[in-house]
Parts: sequence; structure tokens; C-alpha cells
Amino acid sequence: MLLKQILPNCALHSNRVNGDNRGSLIAIEAEREVPFKIERVYFVYDTQPGVERGFHAHRSLEQWLICVTGSCVIAVDDGRTRHEAVLDTPEKALYIGPGLWREMHDFSPGAVLAVIASARFDESDYIRDYDRFLAIARGEQT
Ligand code: TYD
Repeated sequence: MLLKQILPNCALHSNRVNGDNRGSLIAIEAEREVPFKIERVYFVYDTQPGVERGFHAHRSLEQWLICVTGSCVIAVDDGRTRHEAVLDTPEKALYIGPGLWREMHDFSPGAVLAVIASARFDESDYIRDYDRFLAIARGEQT
């Protein structure tokens, strides 16, 4: 369920929880819970105190981020405005579409960030330079 539309291609969602007296379970299915075919899943964990990660945009990748344990903050930036989303429960998910700069910070000790992605790792999909990102976002560069 949509919790908050942050940008046209970035939104905070709630994951549907199957809970009973044994505990809770969240299931993620391609093209149902996430709006794309799942090609890759990766986990960021063991983050050291004070680290910041990300600092890139993707040309076409779509991602669905869930902090399955602990918490972290994801900043997203479309070249005009910057927004922050707090992921502090597996019941929240952040969808990040193409063309957005992202930075991750404030990982709690032991945090595990799961990232579900629409494509395999492809370095050519990355924009790692912020000025270049801004130029692309403004349509000045490809
Ligand atoms: P990096 O892009 O620096 O992670 P973050 O976005 O969290 O800052 O990735 C760290 C390393 O892992 C880098 O050498 C690339 C590699 N990597 C893969 O091999 N496959 C992947 O799916 C990802 C996301 C990264």
C-alpha cells in the first residue's frame, strides 16, 4: 500500500504482513508487491558506524529497498529537491525509480538493508558523479 509519494518515481510503501501468533512474514512477488520483474537481490550489512553509502544514480534500474533489521535513512534527490526516508521496520519499503541520486546513512548497529532490483549489476547504468547527474537531470547531457 502506498504510504507517501515522495517524487513522481519514488515512494514509500507498506509491505503486506502475514502475522499470527507464530510471528510475521512478508512476501515479495515480482510485478505484484514490486512493480518490476526481479532480477537481483542484494543485502547491505555490517555497516560501520557513521558510514554513508550510495552516492550515485541509475539510468534505468528500479529498486525496492527494505531495512529488514534495524534502521537506516535513504536520501533521494531528483536534481531539484532532496527528500529523506527513514526505513526502520521491514513493514516499510522504498521504491526508487530511474534517474534519482541516492545516499544511505544513519545505519543502526546490525542493520540489514535488502535491495530488490530490476536488473543485474551493470556498471554502465551508474552515474557516479553528482555534477554529471545534475547535468543529465537538467537535460544538458545524456
Ligand atoms: P557499491 O555500489 O559501492 O554499494 P553502495 O551502493 O551501497 O554504495 O557496491 C560495493 C561493491 O559491490 C562494488 O565493488 C560493486 C559491487 N557490487 C556488485 O558486485 N554487485 C551488486 O549488485 C552491487 C550493488 C555491488
